[in-house]
Amino acid sequence: MDTKKTHSTTLKVNGEAYNLQLMPWVSLLDVLREEIHLTGTKKGCDHGQCGACTVIADGKRILSCLTLGVMKDGSEITTIEGVADGENLHPVQRAFIEHDAFQCGYCTPGQICSAIGMLKEGKAKTREDVQELMSGNLCRCGANRGIIDAIMEVKEGGYHE
Ligand code: FES
Ligand code: FES
Repeated sequence: MDTKKTHSTTLKVNGEAYNLQLMPWVSLLDVLREEIHLTGTKKGCDHGQCGACTVIADGKRILSCLTLGVMKDGSEITTIEGVADGENLHPVQRAFIEHDAFQCGYCTPGQICSAIGMLKEGKAKTREDVQELMSGNLCRCGANRGIIDAIMEVKEGGYHE
């Protein structure tokens, strides 16, 4: 790949196709925020350590700060702006509200996308499993208890799509 010129890249984000000319070193996080202007996905550490930038790519949760935009050519990406079904919030979003699972809200988009991806993975059996599998998403406000309560409610409600 020529690192000095742009590369034609198509991303389907929240159901909409974007044809982009991307420099090969630009992260998916910066593509989403700077090129597509979807700023719901947050930049925390920009180094793969906080989870604030989590999005869902082809059904799997990924850290968009550690992913190059060009690597996702042809992929379907869901960001926090795309998880609701029109006016109907996603069950994880509803549970976060019910359980006061946020304070400043900065980590919340990443927490919700990560929770949706984690539930789809179907690996978590217990609350401890959920805590472990969500441990890559940090909350500086200490809302962790509410976050895990919210995810457990959705999990016990049988959500695994
Ligand atoms: Fe990506 Fe922190 S911004 S992990
Ligand atoms: Fe503030 Fe999590 S709600 S960082």
